[in-house]
Amino acid sequence: MPTQMMKAVQSHAFGGPEVLVYEDAPKPTAKAGEVLVRVHAVGINPPDWYLRDGYKALPPEWQPKLSFPLILGTDVSGVVEAVGDDVTEFAAGDAVFGMVRFPSMGESRAYAQYVAAPAAHLARKPEGIDHAQAAAAPMSLLTAWQFLVALGHDEANPLQADRHRPVPLDGKRVLVNGAAGGVGHFGVQVAKLKGAHVTAVASTDHEAFLRDLGADDFIDYTKTAPEDVARDLDLVLDTLGGPGTSRFLPVITRGGALFPVFPLGFVDTGEAKTRGVTVSTTQVRSSGAQLAELGPLLNEGRIRVAIDSHFPLAEARTAHERAAQGHIRGKIVLIVT
Ligand SMILES: NC(=O)c1ccc[n+]([C@@H]2O[C@H](COP(=O)([O-])OP(=O)(O)OC[C@H]3O[C@@H](n4cnc5c(N)ncnc54)[C@H](OP(=O)(O)O)[C@@H]3O)[C@@H](O)[C@H]2O)c1
Repeated sequence: MPTQMMKAVQSHAFGGPEVLVYEDAPKPTAKAGEVLVRVHAVGINPPDWYLRDGYKALPPEWQPKLSFPLILGTDVSGVVEAVGDDVTEFAAGDAVFGMVRFPSMGESRAYAQYVAAPAAHLARKPEGIDHAQAAAAPMSLLTAWQFLVALGHDEANPLQADRHRPVPLDGKRVLVNGAAGGVGHFGVQVAKLKGAHVTAVASTDHEAFLRDLGADDFIDYTKTAPEDVARDLDLVLDTLGGPGTSRFLPVITRGGALFPVFPLGFVDTGEAKTRGVTVSTTQVRSSGAQLAELGPLLNEGRIRVAIDSHFPLAEARTAHERAAQGHIRGKIVLIVT
């Protein structure tokens, strides 16, 4: 049988947004344990542009050796077109969403009209949100959940020797840095849902947005360094992470924790130990089961999905250019027609 074709956004080399080309690509099929999803919307995430660039920030020995053409993207919402052998939990016509095959370098292939996803990475789309909102949620929301509430798996932690352990949030003082972004805006809501007092750190324009999501306090980092004004925190979820994350250690109470979501960068472990602060990170993993657990919260609006902007799939390049400008409020989404 001749290979069926679909439209997808492919790259033929590592590079900037200009390497993203909307063109024909082979349509995947569902193997055993997989679901073929007709994609309605794709949520975009930082790993998409890291991979597009060839993970330039990583040491050379960690950089992926991948063959081209490459299809980026992990987060989708769509409708089941077909199921492979052994799939009993979904059937053609079901609306589903999920983060497909993460972490796996280049095998998720979501920027396309169709994606073949392991059934275990999908959940039913909550009826109360549309495909754009559902596609926007998976990676960012799973990251917030796996850092703050439940890891949800027993895989080894590639980023540290120990398993990441969320800490109790009820009645605790939590600061979310990078609060307006994909992970941050869910982090604020999850921490509030679990009973924390939440301080959100973001640039000026995001204050009303973050207070509306439930933030109790707001620090505008363009005017005040958060570590100069925050005090007695039980937990800092630093979605920015990186080299600057150690500055939060002095404002965390003994017995508290610092969770850098972007794990590359120096944390002064000696200072953390002296201060009695646990520093811990993890890498988000696909989980249809956790998305199914989160479905009712999304459905009821107890966790809301903010859309920064959306673009047609064919304009993935423009979406990546938008991402590069920074100051993202919520999520950027590609709409697949
Ligand atoms: N460990 C994992 O498994 C995992 C999973 C997902 C993401 N990540 C990493 O987590 C990071 C965040 O991801 P994301 O999807 O949330 O990114 P994002 O949507 O781009 O959000 C980043 C946010 O940070 C804010 N920001 C920038 N500079 C800031 C500063 N100096 N202080 C406070 N806020 C600042 C930006 O808005 P304003 O500047 O306007 O406030 C923006 O809202 C990325 O590095 C990503 O790679 C890690």
